[in-house]
Amino acid sequence: MTTMQNTQDGTVGDELAPEPSDALVSFGVSGDLAKKMTFVSLYRLAERGLLDVPFIGVAFTDWSDDEFRAHALQSIKDCGQEVDEKVWEKMAAGMTYVQGDYTKPETYAAVKEKLGDAKRPLFYLEIPPSLFLTAVKGLHEVGVTRNARVVIEKPFGHDYQSAVELYGELSKMLEERQIYRIDHYLGKNAIQDIMVWRFSNRMFEPIWNSANIESVQITMSESFDVADRGSFYDRVGALKDVVQNHIMQIIGLLSMDPPSKATPAAIHSQQLQAFESMRPVEPSDCVRGQYTGYHDVKGVAEGSTTETFVAIKLFIDSWRWAGVPFFIRTGKNLACTATEAVVVYKRPPLPLFKETGCPQPERNRLRFRFGHGEDGVQMRVQALDPSSQMASKPVVLNVDFTEALGEEKLPYEQLLGDALQGIATRFATQQIIEGTWMALSKILEHPSPVIEYAPGTMGPREAEELIAPYGGWIEPVGSKSDHPA
Ligand code: BG6
Repeated sequence: MTTMQNTQDGTVGDELAPEPSDALVSFGVSGDLAKKMTFVSLYRLAERGLLDVPFIGVAFTDWSDDEFRAHALQSIKDCGQEVDEKVWEKMAAGMTYVQGDYTKPETYAAVKEKLGDAKRPLFYLEIPPSLFLTAVKGLHEVGVTRNARVVIEKPFGHDYQSAVELYGELSKMLEERQIYRIDHYLGKNAIQDIMVWRFSNRMFEPIWNSANIESVQITMSESFDVADRGSFYDRVGALKDVVQNHIMQIIGLLSMDPPSKATPAAIHSQQLQAFESMRPVEPSDCVRGQYTGYHDVKGVAEGSTTETFVAIKLFIDSWRWAGVPFFIRTGKNLACTATEAVVVYKRPPLPLFKETGCPQPERNRLRFRFGHGEDGVQMRVQALDPSSQMASKPVVLNVDFTEALGEEKLPYEQLLGDALQGIATRFATQQIIEGTWMALSKILEHPSPVIEYAPGTMGPREAEELIAPYGGWIEPVGSKSDHPA
């Protein structure tokens, strides 16, 4: 894996009392991501008094400053956000626009001029990955990267080798601590909560190991199809689109050891250890699927074998996790939309009530639910069945985070706010990214054949076989085929 020569510990971000950025420059502001996520997130930061810096938008579209502002305001409203005139006026007053081609030095010269006296700009590259290096080079050449932070969007490379190469080039111009790699799943509260849940409660961590846990399963199911993203998706597929990043980050938080302190370096170093212990997944432990009708999607290549579904069994070869399988499944056009991680415990060591003719108690489950308005945790435990002498039956303890804790921030609101403040905990490091690519390297190099599945199902039957010895997939709460709780 890459050795970080330019930081002491290979972590991302400033460790001690980071200074906030004094300008925000966003490349790609005329794009879809900006329209759906960036403007509304920045507005919400402004509403909380956390966007007190000039905001310079850059794109190829021919806009005046006013047209840029009008587009931003419309995007904010289209997201369903209520707009307070005073907040907006203040935000708009700090907004200016640079029209430019990312391949032309004039664009970066214009950005530099707009930056004026700013000493610590934050550059947010919401542009195609093929342009990351071009933009960083352009900024570097006009001399504005020295104390800058640079936020880049996934994907970070398309496999292990390309991730190493991309970093090799970036690191000629930037130190690791200046690079903030966005994975919006790390901006979701319920996902960061995994770490807080585990390490702020006494009752989980002591039994969070192979002696007590039988398996872990993660389902990220989407009922919608590839829609108008055919040409993007067909080059990527489920493994690269969501497993290497979003799902791996969930596994990192579920499997890491407790950090020595709550700094980004300490947290990242424990997550990295988990990825370093991850055994590269064997092609025989990977089922790839494609929904019927995928070939008719605009932009999909004829005869494409890109997977729109994948199920995987993987292992982390550490003392904590030896022998515990982590199952992953994700796909488009499935039966429901839900993201969950379920920790399945072993049964009690002694079937105490079996002499009374009572059946074995069922396995306890701890279910984390993420996003889509469903954030929360459920614990399935056994309680005495009143209709019997000593038999137990499962009951569910449920907490809905929105109800119990209130509204959470939008993922991009959290992440852009953190990047502006120089708080790096929720961003992935280069070494972590390389670890995740390494775990998937064999199945990317030797993909298993793609199996067709019917839209509205939970993927091909072969995915069931993968997990059958561990009791089968646990369906997300509320989905059609939900197991009885
Ligand atoms: C994106 C993927 O990164 O994450 C999409 O490109 C996917 O394909 C999306 O649908 C899921 O994000 P969320 O927040 O809706 O679960």
